[in-house]
Amino acid sequence: MRIAPRLIAWQRVHGRHGLPWQLTRDPYRVWLSEIMLQQTQVAAVIDYYARFLKKFPTVKKLAQATSAEVMAQWAGLGYYARARNLHACAQQVVNTWGGSFPTTAQELVTLPGIGPSTAAAIAAFCFAERAAILDGNVKRVFSRHAGIEGDPSLRVVEQQLWAIARKQLPTARICEDDPDAMASYTQGLMDLGATLCTRSRPRCSECPIRANCIAHKEGRTDELPSARAR
Ligand code: ADE
Repeated sequence: MRIAPRLIAWQRVHGRHGLPWQLTRDPYRVWLSEIMLQQTQVAAVIDYYARFLKKFPTVKKLAQATSAEVMAQWAGLGYYARARNLHACAQQVVNTWGGSFPTTAQELVTLPGIGPSTAAAIAAFCFAERAAILDGNVKRVFSRHAGIEGDPSLRVVEQQLWAIARKQLPTARICEDDPDAMASYTQGLMDLGATLCTRSRPRCSECPIRANCIAHKEGRTDELPSARAR
């Protein structure tokens, strides 16, 4: 059973809207938000995001900054490898892409600090590409929905989850009829994982895709995804 139509409809009513990076399709701004949000909660990112863009309004300004200037803007956000990659990525966009971010997930993933899921999120939000995301929260959603056993950080399990993530994408037909489908779907997956399909005490009664969720049907949301293998 396909989840995309339900998730899209749910996101438009119940998902998160009006966050600063949702008001733009500028890849520089979307990229910056996705890197900040990788390991940091939305509430903590909002102020940093605004200050960062005030200091570095374009990818060119960021590329021309010194490492110390970039680090000063990042200070407090943590995971400082993100800031070093951010700076390197900006320089690569300016030096090898003529100052414009590439427009496909396949090209975006070649840039420093942009993994497959982040590349797909940027391509979906900015360019409506039918590209699959799979971050920690989304792994939890698909592990439960499809009843996938095993630690999602194990390669074989992760490969299964990527296959599901690709299979569940909105159809090409849906995307043709609705140019915002990929943005709503991608944001919907993130929002579902962050707000309802939480690690503990998920709110299944409010979930738009509970009808076909194996973990819900079998009362196993506390067992899926499986605990870390160690
Ligand atoms: N986490 C990663 N990307 C996000 C986004 N676009 N919105 C909310 N949380 C996120």
